Amino acid sequence: MTRRILVTSALPYANGPIHLGHLVEYIQTDIWVRFQKLRGNTCIYVCADDAHGTPIMLKARELGITPEALIERIGEEHRRDFSGFLIDFDNYYSTHSEENRFYSELIYTRLSEAGHISRRTIEQAYDPVERLFLPDRYIRGGCPRCGAEDQYGDSCEVCGATYAPTELSDARSVISGAAPVARESEHYFFRLNDFADLLKDWAGTGHLQPEVANKLAEWFGEGLREWDISRDAPYFGFRIPGTEDKFFYVWLDAPIGYMASFRNWCERTGTRFEDYWAPGSETELYHFIGKDIVYFHALFWPAMLHGAGFRMPTRVFAHGFLTVNGQKMSKSRGTFIMASSWLEHLNPEHLRYYLAAKLGGSVHDLDLNLDDFVHRVNADLVGKIVNLASRSASFINKRFAGQLAGTLVAADLHARFVERGGVIAEAYEEREYARAMREIMALADEANRYFDECKPWVLARDEAGLGQVQAICTLTLNLFRVLMLYLKPVLPEIAAAAERFLRCGPLTWENRAEPLLDQRIDPFTALAHRVDPAAVSALIEASRGTLAQAPAPAPAQEAGQE
Ligand code: 2FM
Ligand code: ZN
Repeated sequence: MTRRILVTSALPYANGPIHLGHLVEYIQTDIWVRFQKLRGNTCIYVCADDAHGTPIMLKARELGITPEALIERIGEEHRRDFSGFLIDFDNYYSTHSEENRFYSELIYTRLSEAGHISRRTIEQAYDPVERLFLPDRYIRGGCPRCGAEDQYGDSCEVCGATYAPTELSDARSVISGAAPVARESEHYFFRLNDFADLLKDWAGTGHLQPEVANKLAEWFGEGLREWDISRDAPYFGFRIPGTEDKFFYVWLDAPIGYMASFRNWCERTGTRFEDYWAPGSETELYHFIGKDIVYFHALFWPAMLHGAGFRMPTRVFAHGFLTVNGQKMSKSRGTFIMASSWLEHLNPEHLRYYLAAKLGGSVHDLDLNLDDFVHRVNADLVGKIVNLASRSASFINKRFAGQLAGTLVAADLHARFVERGGVIAEAYEEREYARAMREIMALADEANRYFDECKPWVLARDEAGLGQVQAICTLTLNLFRVLMLYLKPVLPEIAAAAERFLRCGPLTWENRAEPLLDQRIDPFTALAHRVDPAAVSALIEASRGTLAQAPAPAPAQEAGQE
């Protein structure tokens, strides 16, 4: 039975470029989606730019343009980077859209009517010069614990202390330099605790990875607090219905952006939105996210959905962070690498393969070790996979005018390759891509061994051995074809080139058992090139001290970027 699946990746903020840290998630998700499609499932992958909030408003101001112009510009850059890495969204949209306004208002109104929104007046830091309320990250001052100067309003980078901005000594607004003053305003809160039982039940029944479920158990133990979902003007976002100058906090409308992007896709394709979002829907809904935003996706989001009469997610998949050469990405070391810089120096499929070879289904961090990257890509993709095709195709082309044999020798070997598709599919399904890659490379070793042991280059010296040579190379090419199918979610362009060269039509999980026989293939052209270590060095040099923004530090559980 084919499944109907909706998949999302977290929405990147529309105020900075895509970097390798982001790409882990989009590559992880894209591989999963391509795998589902290859299996014959209906799988829709949507995403969008996360366009609202104070940083975007301030950045636009700094550049002297409107926020709309900024998000338009960044949106184009993001699309270009994603397409460079072969991330194949069915729809890429923006949270600053009419669809998103509609669903944000709808969800808010339903929650409010059901009594899940409360209001109260709170006191906050205010910039009297700029005349805006200051998110914690926009206040700096002396750490109350260790005395280090110029620390953020919520935590100290020197001693790790966390505190309230009012505790800083000599606090200053990052925007104007003025000392913040305390000021009152009325805020709107989502009563998360109304959903405590529902969430406990949901979190305990297989919707989360075990590590994530454990984290939630801790949060349940601490008690669920109300969530502040409003921000005062000036703010770039959607105005809260029934107010003059209150806006939805960016994190309220961001996940609703998943729905809005999907809705936009529905309009374009004539799909029924309700089939995917109605309660009890049999379609599957998966969110791929980083481990820093679990609170939003495993607590607020399912509660908002349920409270507003929509289905809850089938599963939330959290991944860890990327390190480069064992350390945090760093501008001074040249390892804070932008997607666009990678594309100038190196091949996107090589990164896709390397990350796949390291990705498991857990929240563990993963390391891009650049020496290992060069070695792994050259040894596996070029040395094992492409080599298989180039060696066998060269005989078929030169000695048999490109004609494959009519029967399959060593059919049992081929059958075993086909049969391993079961465990490889299971590994993909579980997001255990490293396991899938190990399986595939073990099969590639076997295929190379078969070819070497048969010694077609010796047999080819004698006219009488030619029939065997054609048979051996035909079998080897068929083994290569099965392996290329298994790698297709990771290496879509190499797989497409292989399909053309083999003249075999689209490889699918379904048709993998039917061998290619008694037909012509095209002359072989190199499907992948070795990584040149000099290109890696050039990338590091080019990335050293780039002016691009450092990533925002991990958001506090219930705060996130303002
Ligand atoms: O953490 C971030 O980068 C957010 N822009 C992710 C939003 S994901 C979803 F909720 F929209
Ligand atoms: Zn400190």
